Amino acid sequence: MNQRLRYSLKYIHYLLFAKHKKGHGIHSPFLFKLITEIFISKIEDKKLEQVFLAYNKIKQNKQLLTFDEIGAGSSYKKLNQLTVGKIVQKSSINKKYGKLLYGLVKFFNPETILEIGTSVGISTAFIAQAAPNANFKTIEGISQKIEIAKKISSKLNLKPEFIHGNFNHMLASVLEKYQILDFVFFDGNHTKEATLNYFNQCVAKTDNNSVFIFDDIHWSEDMENAWECIKQNKNVTLSVDLFRLGLIFFRKELSKEHYVIKF
Ligand SMILES: C[S@@+](CC[C@H](N)C(=O)[O-])C[C@H]1O[C@@H](n2cnc3c(N)ncnc32)[C@H](O)[C@@H]1O
Repeated sequence: MNQRLRYSLKYIHYLLFAKHKKGHGIHSPFLFKLITEIFISKIEDKKLEQVFLAYNKIKQNKQLLTFDEIGAGSSYKKLNQLTVGKIVQKSSINKKYGKLLYGLVKFFNPETILEIGTSVGISTAFIAQAAPNANFKTIEGISQKIEIAKKISSKLNLKPEFIHGNFNHMLASVLEKYQILDFVFFDGNHTKEATLNYFNQCVAKTDNNSVFIFDDIHWSEDMENAWECIKQNKNVTLSVDLFRLGLIFFRKELSKEHYVIKF
């Protein structure tokens, strides 16, 4: 079965069987609060509006970038030439999930944030706008993309630290700069091996309140396997599957439970 068909079938299954949209049947007060205050809340605020405006603008950007692809799915197409708008359309977080990221970051108010996979900086902008004073580092392997991401951030007056390099070589040294990771967004190199490698390195820097968010957990069989392993990790208590994003918590006061929630 080809990957697109497999993904569509998985999504239909999710829509049919995922439960708990409005928090019904959720026993965990922590998760109930998250659902009612973040997942289904209609947060409208000026800061979020600013990111939406930047997003709408960048989607129309026709600047052509030529770069060597890296990461999962790119081995068959080494050299790529795409407009910035097309990159956003193909691989950036959309507004619905951007708003969720923004809401989660505001809710947890992390002091330290790491993003693995900046691309042209869309998710970076949602995260940074929600926590402008956090120690926020974001890593990306393609310098042309980072240049665009820097421009978006600077227009919004945000100052995340952009790090150019391959995750496989850079992550360990970047992690040395953190004592504790409060919030991590994993969004690059979607293979099982790479995802588990990055997860295991980051887990060493967690504490009880850390929050990890994974993008594209059902994108491929490989990613689904990675997601299963992450859920089973001994440090993980609660996991929440929103189909596109997966949320991981380490709070010892929570019992080990795995929820699939319609979002
Ligand atoms: C899905 S995109 C990130 C999208 C971004 N988080 C957003 O929502 O706007 C993944 C990015 O990871 C980068 N990437 C993939 N594998 C990498 C690696 N091994 N080292 C560095 N960057 C990598 C790709 O160049 C790509 O820009």
